[in-house]
Amino acid sequence: MRESFDCLLAERTKEAETVIGDYIPSGDGYNELLTEAMKYSLVAGGKRLRPVFIMSFFRLYGGNDDTVKPFMAAMEMLHTYSLVHDDLPAIDNDDYRRGRETVHKRYNEAVAILAGDGLLHAAYDTAIKAFSSGDADIIVRALTLFSNKTGIYGMLGGQSVDVFSTGNEVDKDTMEYIYKKKTGALIEGSMMLGALLAGAPKEDVSTIEKIGYNIGMAFQIRDDILDVYGDSDTIGKPVNSDEKNNKKTYLSLLGREKAEQYIDELTGEAKKLLLTVGNDREEREFLLNLFDYMVIRNK
Ligand code: IPE
Ligand code: IPE
Ligand code: MG
Ligand code: MG
Ligand code: MG
Repeated sequence: MRESFDCLLAERTKEAETVIGDYIPSGDGYNELLTEAMKYSLVAGGKRLRPVFIMSFFRLYGGNDDTVKPFMAAMEMLHTYSLVHDDLPAIDNDDYRRGRETVHKRYNEAVAILAGDGLLHAAYDTAIKAFSSGDADIIVRALTLFSNKTGIYGMLGGQSVDVFSTGNEVDKDTMEYIYKKKTGALIEGSMMLGALLAGAPKEDVSTIEKIGYNIGMAFQIRDDILDVYGDSDTIGKPVNSDEKNNKKTYLSLLGREKAEQYIDELTGEAKKLLLTVGNDREEREFLLNLFDYMVIRNK
């Protein structure tokens, strides 16, 4: 069982990798440094979980055309931009990401700022390509969702509160806001996009948002744990970044045992909700296994 899930996850990751590769922008002869740095961060690897979620929730509702592909690549570009900027000296000041030097280390800070900007623009240029293969009304709704989950009311909103409260005491509500937005929003958005593009009913899409919330929170708490107890070579980024930045996390708030318990509770809730949506049983099985895998992941 576990072995067949591992194979399927590897297959899905490869599939996402291929889709992302198909949409990488090329230079125009003058902007080569910009496009090279964008590509450097994008092809470095990473788990590709967000595009895998988009495809899987699409399949959960019987989706089988290409409309989903531009959104898979767009989401990974947007996520990668958030990482390139997150690592900058003014933010987390980290030198290592996805197993290689961060963009500002490999090039310089100006290149990293502009490559992040480039990836953000490329994400929208790419998502817009969905119009060539899908229903215009659904794609407009998908673009609106994409923009909402990634922007100031989504990932960027959470990242801003995270950055601006660094070193300060953070109350529980604020911490929940940070986690729900900085990490949860892209995961919620990915799951919802897949379902929406396959024509899932509205009520299901709102249940899926709750699934994404639970998985997103659990994912970030596991990230906090890996930041302290993980292995830098395995996670492909430095350990102890949060301590270095004097950052309050759920781990520092709850301690390891309670943080692990909370991850289990959140994952359990997500799995319970997943049983109430979608119609492809095999796809649901894959997602249930993926949620379990995310609890015990070591990278
Ligand atoms: C890292 O995301 C940032 C967080 C939200 C914790 P991932 O752990 O998905 O990073 P990659 O894409 O695999 O590199
Ligand atoms: C980052 O959270 C979430 C983003 C919006 C980029 P972290 O700062 O904990 O992510 P890592 O540990 O650097 O990947
Ligand atoms: Mg950060
Ligand atoms: Mg960071
Ligand atoms: Mg982290």
